[in-house]
Amino acid sequence: MRGWTKILAIMFYVLVLSACSKDSDQSSQASKDPDWERGRAVYVANCVACHNSDPSKDGPLGPALKGSPQELLEARVLSSNYPPGYQPKRPTKVMPQFPFLKSEIPYLSAYLR
Ligand code: HEC
Repeated sequence: MRGWTKILAIMFYVLVLSACSKDSDQSSQASKDPDWERGRAVYVANCVACHNSDPSKDGPLGPALKGSPQELLEARVLSSNYPPGYQPKRPTKVMPQFPFLKSEIPYLSAYLR
């Protein structure tokens, strides 16, 4: 009988441990989506001089960007264009091109979604 209790105690301990580690894995996943994090870093480094650091608000020069689709980001950031049929938020042509950010567009899109 004593042996069984010991084994049960060990099993219980192992179960609790594995449940805990699973929990903390999940919460770190939810708070830190790596694509979102990378997109935010790219945004902060390249865009906040003109756009607001909170993309849902207008910045000192550029308009709010929250919800910008990936094709808009690609057209605007890489070649100062707009996707066909898109109605720009501003009529101006102030924003420069950032061709070196080609590989970062999906991350910017994940951040601004
Ligand atoms: C030098 C200032 C400046 C910088 C830096 C800048 N933008 Fe802009 N952006 C603007 C301005 C001003 C507009 C309004 C259109 C125009 O005048 O070109 C704009 C417009 C846009 C638009 C179109 C919004 C719409 O719906 O019409 C997108 C998308 C955008 N910017 C994304 C970005 C991203 C992403 C970055 C960083 C990689 C960035 N911009 C960096 C100034 C800037």
